[in-house]
Amino acid sequence: MQRADVTDAVWAALLARRNDDAAAGPSQEWSEAERAAWELYAPLATGHPGAHLFAQVGQSLDGRIATPSGDATDVSGPEGLKHLHRCRALADAVVVGVKTALQDDPRLTVRLVPGPSPARVIIDPRGRLPDSAKALTDASVRRVVIQASDRPRAPGVEVVRLTPAECGWIAPEDIAGALADLGFGRVLIEGGCVTIQRFLDAGLLHRLHVAVAPLIIGDGPSGLRTAPVARLRDALRPETRVYGLETDVVFDCALANPGNAKMSRCPTEPKVVAARA
Ligand SMILES: NC(=O)c1ccc[n+]([C@@H]2O[C@H](COP(=O)([O-])OP(=O)(O)OC[C@H]3O[C@@H](n4cnc5c(N)ncnc54)[C@H](OP(=O)(O)O)[C@@H]3O)[C@@H](O)[C@H]2O)c1
Repeated sequence: MQRADVTDAVWAALLARRNDDAAAGPSQEWSEAERAAWELYAPLATGHPGAHLFAQVGQSLDGRIATPSGDATDVSGPEGLKHLHRCRALADAVVVGVKTALQDDPRLTVRLVPGPSPARVIIDPRGRLPDSAKALTDASVRRVVIQASDRPRAPGVEVVRLTPAECGWIAPEDIAGALADLGFGRVLIEGGCVTIQRFLDAGLLHRLHVAVAPLIIGDGPSGLRTAPVARLRDALRPETRVYGLETDVVFDCALANPGNAKMSRCPTEPKVVAARA
């Protein structure tokens, strides 16, 4: 494990890279820990053609992202939270599923580090999110709702209407295409688990950061799921580097073959809408 030290100089260089300054990079004078911080974040800051999708999960030692009653406040430690805000600051857009938007009512802004707040995208196929949700009301950035319904939204909120596949899920490829059409190159898939799983199983994630904080919750939703395998040799084993951020440990996973979907457009389990209402 390498210690990552995100000093002001490192962060300034990362923000410059995010703003497409190709010359921005590590300085000779940087320490090893500063160079490690650059390695951790530079792949997120660097622009790519089309939409470049990366996900971030903040979880406990036992892989939970909330308690069974839904308390998800600060699973991550202080440095893990800063890490999340850095991921947001390096992204053009941040995507959450409607359950996260309903349960946590997040602002999805960048507050813990200097940097721009990304556009907000909510996947809300049935139009369940009220117009009063914090992610939709703050008009300082673009706000987008991906819907399968005709529900009208407040002025200023962009609506992308996508048709679900037969299984009930909107194909993640269609969502990624819509995000690219909207001009979002660097896209953070922030959660929750269901939303990340759709992109992971479709082979659309270029990178996955799992930030582990030293607490044990015991039960509750898990941070990460994917299509199960019968044999360990078939498990997804991404090339991974591990970084220490004082209070949290970040597993930086490079998902080498985005585009090689593990599954077809529809997962084996169809979407059961009634059970979720
Ligand atoms: N620790 C962390 O890093 C972190 C980050 C984010 C969230 N969370 C936690 O995660 C929990 C919620 O996660 P979750 O997994 O239950 O739900 P979620 O991913 O937030 O939302 C899932 C819902 O979003 C919609 N959706 C997402 N992708 C879709 C697609 N491809 N096609 C159609 N609909 C799609 C569906 O809405 P419908 O149900 O309306 O059909 C789906 O049920 C909360 O407790 C939150 O606090 C933790």
